[in-house]
Amino acid sequence: MTQLGHTGIDVFPLVLGGNTFGWTSDETTSHQVLDAFVAGGGNFIDTSDSYSAFVPGNSGGESETIIGSWLAARKNRDSVIVGTKVSQHPQFKGLAPATVAAAADASLARLGTDYIDVYYAHFDDPDTPLTETIGAFDVLRKAGKIRTVALSNYTGARITEWLDISRREGYEPPAVLQPHYNLVTRQPYEREIAPIAVAEGIAAVPYFSLASGFLTGKYKNKQDLAGGIRQNIAGQYFSEAGLAVVAVVEDIASARGAEMSTVALAWLRGRPSIVAPIVSARTLEQLPALLASATLDLTADETAALDEVSARIG
Ligand SMILES: NC(=O)c1ccc[n+]([C@@H]2O[C@H](COP(=O)([O-])OP(=O)(O)OC[C@H]3O[C@@H](n4cnc5c(N)ncnc54)[C@H](OP(=O)(O)O)[C@@H]3O)[C@@H](O)[C@H]2O)c1
Repeated sequence: MTQLGHTGIDVFPLVLGGNTFGWTSDETTSHQVLDAFVAGGGNFIDTSDSYSAFVPGNSGGESETIIGSWLAARKNRDSVIVGTKVSQHPQFKGLAPATVAAAADASLARLGTDYIDVYYAHFDDPDTPLTETIGAFDVLRKAGKIRTVALSNYTGARITEWLDISRREGYEPPAVLQPHYNLVTRQPYEREIAPIAVAEGIAAVPYFSLASGFLTGKYKNKQDLAGGIRQNIAGQYFSEAGLAVVAVVEDIASARGAEMSTVALAWLRGRPSIVAPIVSARTLEQLPALLASATLDLTADETAALDEVSARIG
């Protein structure tokens, strides 16, 4: 277990992503994955009120509903840390105070709980004054509906602005950041967000830790993705420099007798500002390699080789 920044919350150093629930995994499989994650020591689950509105036929909230039915069936709410997000649900777009309040209540209802452990502003909302959004999060925190304020996809400048307003107005500052960060996407996280996380003691839990599957090595070329569900996201990582990273991950994995996904996640967990990478598993079979990353410590030479090859990507 490791500390989630200054929240006082202990978390397993790998977070289970929930965007697969109700998208690439049905409810039964999702519950199996959740059971296996917890059996493997995991306790922190990531979702959003908007998952997975982007799937034809869905309206958003499907992932929270599946997590809610699992929490109810297992009666384990107190031992699980639930993170969810606001601003992207089709009915609750943006971060105006009334939207945040209504979206939080809708998330609580779907999750079947009366508190959210980690509540993220999912994306910045330039149309709502930051001070109003921060006030809305503070109302939720004071009401006991959320335990921790968190930010995802914010620029370094806007995180700093949020921190400054919190200090000035006496609000609880954000304690968790959720950036896009992995071996093939090191910027802008390392340049503009990691320094803030380190200086402020804020926990960073990155998403797309496996670059949507690209770092598992299962896609040898773009044709392997053609027509697939991950074509658009994983496809963006294909480049000569990206494939060079995959090759080094593969070398280390074969030398260590580990899966490539285990190595890619272990590198991320070893970064100084990272508390726990977020990763999702579509199937039960994918999970053991992911859990194994929590106990795989890369050597200094392995880390240096990955640092060097991944730094070649702009
Ligand atoms: N804050 C944000 O804006 C934001 C954005 C995106 C995601 N997220 C969060 O981050 C989580 C993770 O994102 P993600 O799932 O899109 O990307 P990811 O973690 O980089 O990739 C996970 C995907 O890789 C594949 N995979 C996993 N283990 C594997 C294995 N052992 N062997 C082969 N393939 C494997 C699976 O997809 P396939 O089997 O389908 O290939 C799995 O769904 C999400 O669930 C969500 O909670 C947050």
